[in-house]
Amino acid sequence: MASNILAIGASRNIGYFASLRFLDAGSRVTFLLRSPASFDDDAEIQKYVKTGKAQLVKGDALVAEDVSKAWAKATEEAPVDFILYTVGFTGTKKFSLTKGFTMNIIDISTRCLQNVLCTMPQHAGVPLPKIIVLSTTGASRKARQKTPLMHRPLYGYLIQQQMADKLGMERVIAHCAGWTWTDEEPLAEIMGEGWKQRKGLPAPGTLTEAVVLRASLLTDGECTAEGKSGSALPYHAVEGLDGGATISRKDVGHFIFEAVTKQWKKYANKQISVSY
Ligand SMILES: NC(=O)c1ccc[n+]([C@@H]2O[C@H](COP(=O)([O-])OP(=O)(O)OC[C@H]3O[C@@H](n4cnc5c(N)ncnc54)[C@H](OP(=O)(O)O)[C@@H]3O)[C@@H](O)[C@H]2O)c1
Repeated sequence: MASNILAIGASRNIGYFASLRFLDAGSRVTFLLRSPASFDDDAEIQKYVKTGKAQLVKGDALVAEDVSKAWAKATEEAPVDFILYTVGFTGTKKFSLTKGFTMNIIDISTRCLQNVLCTMPQHAGVPLPKIIVLSTTGASRKARQKTPLMHRPLYGYLIQQQMADKLGMERVIAHCAGWTWTDEEPLAEIMGEGWKQRKGLPAPGTLTEAVVLRASLLTDGECTAEGKSGSALPYHAVEGLDGGATISRKDVGHFIFEAVTKQWKKYANKQISVSY
């Protein structure tokens, strides 16, 4: 079924692969892009730009006004059905002995998500859109205990800042979805002062169609799920935590498309882990 989609963080990789699938299926996708020129030589996307199915909005998801512009474009013809949120850190990293690899923006995934939710049009009596936010299997202390032993130094030390940011992002979704939060509270410097009171943030329990999608370690491998279904699928998607090791970005894109278009009732309002 064709949908109206707002894609944030889809200039490449998972967001991009999933968006292409939605476009191929007849959906309209509005991309918020820091650099729309990154699609200039992309024949696949340009094909849909010409038909108006792909809308490219220039902007930075850290800037609330830019996200508002994306919402305005996305809702020009119809309400948004689905938000695809795959923002990840792409800035400068430094190495610190105590903190592992540190980022020049420590709250990118959390803060951009807060902007997306706080600028989202909300109308009384109209359900909020579906949303998938891309997280990781190692965000919380409890989650890391489930990851393969050899991945724990990565999640718990080398990329601990990125994990803290992903935990913040999951916390925002849990709050708006009205889920009981059983993990440690994220760092205050990631959440921002008074984040729960921020104007526009969906009230607890109103974001009823959210999925926190926890992917295991990502690879640039092929889409091995193409043309497969049911027990023949190479990956598994389970509720809660899972000890899987890796999955390719293309297979995560495949899962997102299949979940949204064919199995939404099964996954909605849950935390789902996806891995081989
Ligand atoms: N690496 C892993 O093993 C692993 C495992 C599980 C989950 N994840 C997470 O999964 C998500 C997707 O990963 P991926 O590898 O498919 O994608 P990615 O290469 O990390 O791409 C991140 C996307 O976010 C966009 N972005 C970053 N900051 C932005 C901003 N301020 N405004 C707008 N867009 C912004 C980037 O756009 P630009 O082109 O403008 O940079 C890019 O499109 C990420 O959050 C990642 O952290 C990673």
